[in-house]
Amino acid sequence: MMMHNNGSVLITGAAGFIGSFLVKKFLRSGYQVIGIDNINSYYDESLKLKRLENIKEYSIKNNFNWLFYKINIEDKNHMSQIFLETKPQFVVNLAAQAGVRYSIINPSSYVKSNLLGFSNILELCQTHEVRHLVYASSSSVYGANNKYPFSERDKIDTPLSFYAATKISNEMMANAYSNIYKLPITGLRFFTVYGPWGRPDMAPMIFADKILKKKPITIFNHGNMSRDFTFISDIIEGTYLCCLKVPSPNDEYKSGKASILHRIFNIGSGNPVKLLDFIELLEEALSIKASKVFENMQPGDVESTYASTQNLQDWISFRPLVTIKEGVNKFANWYLDYYQ
Ligand SMILES: NC(=O)c1ccc[n+]([C@@H]2O[C@H](COP(=O)([O-])OP(=O)(O)OC[C@H]3O[C@@H](n4cnc5c(N)ncnc54)[C@H](O)[C@@H]3O)[C@@H](O)[C@H]2O)c1
Repeated sequence: MMMHNNGSVLITGAAGFIGSFLVKKFLRSGYQVIGIDNINSYYDESLKLKRLENIKEYSIKNNFNWLFYKINIEDKNHMSQIFLETKPQFVVNLAAQAGVRYSIINPSSYVKSNLLGFSNILELCQTHEVRHLVYASSSSVYGANNKYPFSERDKIDTPLSFYAATKISNEMMANAYSNIYKLPITGLRFFTVYGPWGRPDMAPMIFADKILKKKPITIFNHGNMSRDFTFISDIIEGTYLCCLKVPSPNDEYKSGKASILHRIFNIGSGNPVKLLDFIELLEEALSIKASKVFENMQPGDVESTYASTQNLQDWISFRPLVTIKEGVNKFANWYLDYYQ
């Protein structure tokens, strides 16, 4: 019989791409995991339900301690009840309205999940004396910054999308809470995460779908874009290690001017890849050539992202390791298996 004595972690966005992997990481590391998700319809709900089924099977097989609640993080009363009942030691907030382009169409869903929802999380962590809150920020906070690589010390006052503005707000809100209530908080700026079970609204899934259906793929800014693609397993390892390292006032901290108990780190591979090179690797992995349509830059998008990985490495002795070729192959194999 497995022992589950490492403590408990509440993970929001548990049915999401990153959340579902993080849940499994904590389960196999001996934690009780409390998952929260409202399973909204921003993208294919059946994919979210399959991720949850997968976690359930994994837990039953290994006798892991897994609880799931279908709740909206905006619902403070219901969330408060869960905190009271489960008394989590750690909280990881991944629930958010994601997506840069959708924030032009539906800004209010970002206000609800990312601002109201996140303020509930901060308040609940404070009142229930959670040991450490970790939350998802994003590389998009760097906005129009064109000093590469992006460092946590750079200014983040030029968001190019409303999504980015809500993530910058999250960092400000977290800073104030950690300062006032001495709540240890870590914010993680994820850089374009890809891999198996990925998000259907993101480029790798859109491209794979179109390539296999022999439909043309649309390439914005005429291909003059690069992204610091980061494989899911690296994001999970970094997030897990950051969660276990609770900031304390005595730690040496070099990244930025945040409150003493609020740390912010990039989690990105530190190896930006040109969009056209990414597509070529995907074509090779799927053994099909894509037909391409080139278009202008989309509003809200940034041309390039590139993470400095030094601060993360200094903090948890880890930096992302998976090469783009290895990652794209793993993603393509999963895609073929899942969708065909
Ligand atoms: N995937 C990336 O490349 C990337 C990059 C930067 C930042 N992020 C951030 O990381 C986090 C996780 O991203 P992901 O790629 O796994 O996205 P995802 O959309 O797959 O997962 C988010 C999950 O949160 C749930 N959710 C949304 N609003 C909710 C609410 N109000 N209450 C309860 N549940 C809610 C959704 O149903 C979804 O299952 C998000 O905060 C996102 O902004 C992701």
